[in-house]
Amino acid sequence: MSKTILKAIALSRKFSEAPNEITVLQDVNLNVQEGDSIAIMGASGSGKSTLLHLLGGLDSPSSGVVELLDKDFSAMDERDRDRARNQSLGFVYQFHHLLQEFDALDNVAMPLLISRMQTSQAKAQALEVLNKVGLEPRALHSPSELSGGERQRVAIARALVIKPKCLLADEPTGNLDREAASAVFDLMINLTHQEGMSFVVVTHDESLAMRCKRRLKLISGHLHEVS
Ligand SMILES: Nc1ncnc2c1ncn2[C@@H]1O[C@H](COP(=O)(O)OP(=O)(O)OP(=O)(O)O)[C@@H](O)[C@H]1O
Ligand SMILES: [Mg+2]
Repeated sequence: MSKTILKAIALSRKFSEAPNEITVLQDVNLNVQEGDSIAIMGASGSGKSTLLHLLGGLDSPSSGVVELLDKDFSAMDERDRDRARNQSLGFVYQFHHLLQEFDALDNVAMPLLISRMQTSQAKAQALEVLNKVGLEPRALHSPSELSGGERQRVAIARALVIKPKCLLADEPTGNLDREAASAVFDLMINLTHQEGMSFVVVTHDESLAMRCKRRLKLISGHLHEVS
């Protein structure tokens, strides 16, 4: 049986207090197994980003539990939670959030440098991952010199450089034209598959979602498996 990387049990998330309370997620259960690829769909405001934040330990549920590698996020103190997240999860967002004053190589090396790896080793590993996303020749270019799709590929490399167990992506192709979106999505599917990582991606695009092993849809706070 394959290993469970992330597990959400009876998750709910409410915002603000009564009488203005809104329930965004209600009794959500999800198992992300090793090597899984899962697309999360749903209308705008249905709670997709909220769910991804909870899975990444970036937000706390109102009730229920999120486990990363069998450990409950809420049972960890902040330092352990940061460490667990930084060691095991990679994040990609709709906007790349690259640092403009650094070149592609330094942007990708940054998570390793922050975890105090030696500069030469961090850069060597970053270059290896840039190569995997096809951008080794652009290593010394700044984000402003890259296309939208290339910037997203650098952001993917930065997320993958720590060799996470799971890549969490929130509309990573939402800002790209159809062709670039397709290429970037395939890159994420292929790389996570090759490395045996799991992949959870929020997307509006059904044709992209079809490339994942599983599709889930948030409707009225509940998560449904769709075919
Ligand atoms: N911090 C917050 N305080 C109050 N309400 C919030 C907060 N964060 C999110 N919400 C509400 O929760 C609901 C779900 O938001 P969320 O961002 O998860 O939606 P989404 O499915 O990602 O939408 P989109 O497709 O537009 O990105 C929205 O109604 C939003 O206003
Ligand atoms: Mg969102």
